[in-house]
Amino acid sequence: MSVEAVVPAGVRERVAELVKAGETPAFVYDLAGLREHAGRVRAAFAAGPVEVFYAAKANADAPVLRALAPHVHGIEVSSGGELAHVRDVLPEAPLAFGGPGKTPAELAAAVAAGARIHVESPAELARLGALGEPVEVLLRANPPLAVADAALAMGGAATPFGMDETQLAACADLLRDTPSVRVRGLHAHLASGLDAPQLVKLAARLLDWGRDWCDRYGVAGPEFNLGGGMGVDYGDPGRLFDWAAYASGLGGLAGAGERLRIEPGRAVTAYCGFYVTTVLDLKPSHGEWFAVLQGGTHHLRTPVTKGHDQPFAVLPGGGDPHPGSRELPPPARHGAPVTLVGQLCTPKDVFARAVTAGRLEIGDTVVFAMSGAYAWNISHHDFLMHPKPAFHYVGG
Ligand SMILES: Cc1ncc(COP(=O)(O)O)c(C=O)c1O
Repeated sequence: MSVEAVVPAGVRERVAELVKAGETPAFVYDLAGLREHAGRVRAAFAAGPVEVFYAAKANADAPVLRALAPHVHGIEVSSGGELAHVRDVLPEAPLAFGGPGKTPAELAAAVAAGARIHVESPAELARLGALGEPVEVLLRANPPLAVADAALAMGGAATPFGMDETQLAACADLLRDTPSVRVRGLHAHLASGLDAPQLVKLAARLLDWGRDWCDRYGVAGPEFNLGGGMGVDYGDPGRLFDWAAYASGLGGLAGAGERLRIEPGRAVTAYCGFYVTTVLDLKPSHGEWFAVLQGGTHHLRTPVTKGHDQPFAVLPGGGDPHPGSRELPPPARHGAPVTLVGQLCTPKDVFARAVTAGRLEIGDTVVFAMSGAYAWNISHHDFLMHPKPAFHYVGG
């Protein structure tokens, strides 16, 4: 992929400085690009009535959260750790608190923070009731709505997330004896990796089902949180989720007196992160070529978890090819496909498999784009005890 297509000029300048100083591997976050992107998302929803809560699980890096804050209505957190962190970084941000298996301490912290809690089970509801604090909640539903063509399905079938109709009915029974807890509506996050028309269709089915449930159980003027899951195309970094189409589709579905929320993560922050590293070794094995890069998927686990080739660009030279390797003749790869791997002792440590990388030599710099969501924060940093990357910010 051409450098220009995947690495903005400001990031390229910082990469050149880092390479010159020998400070790779590193993450570079493009905060100016993030603000621009988030501003476009906000503009899509400007006419209302949908509120956008950023799912911090995608990337809760403090400068990233601060750059995003003016462009979103709130932040969705999924653990006591995320709750405390986001409260610390953004003391005023409205919060939603979701995720399975909340402890009594986490629930108490969420109530104290004024977060909208998404209740995952009757046991969790009972735990919340036992706190005795007045609180309004959403029940997280796993309705009987199958989702085809999703990258990851978290609902519409047997999963540990949310509640099916019998568990929701058990909550309704419990609520009669739990006056401190009031149900404001329903939450559902059924799938990830859907495009705008698919998500609008899913929202229509969810809202039909949810309104019926709320009518039956006497929840007036309900709030519906439709979750995240907006698709990101790692094979085509220029193809963005169609926020305008999604916003106008949801706008057409919203009912009078209802509040609609969404909580996107990946499609908000994927594009702002860049992982910068250096080619340490280049070698053939049984007819295939491998480039061994400094660092690995313990820094950038995204391609392993998603099963894709991480988009990248090569910046020739720059890095130190190290004494000794300089004296060897350059490997005669002649542009053959090459698999980009890291330094880990596992065949799973692959960034991109059998890709066309043009000219590639020991000492070249490789910049992986789309490394801003579910990247560093989901990676197994301590495996093999390699040094950790530094974090740099441009456009801050
Ligand atoms: C409950 C919930 N909301 C929102 C998200 C964010 O999803 P995405 O990053 O795909 O937009 C997730 C991701 O797993 C989730 O579990």
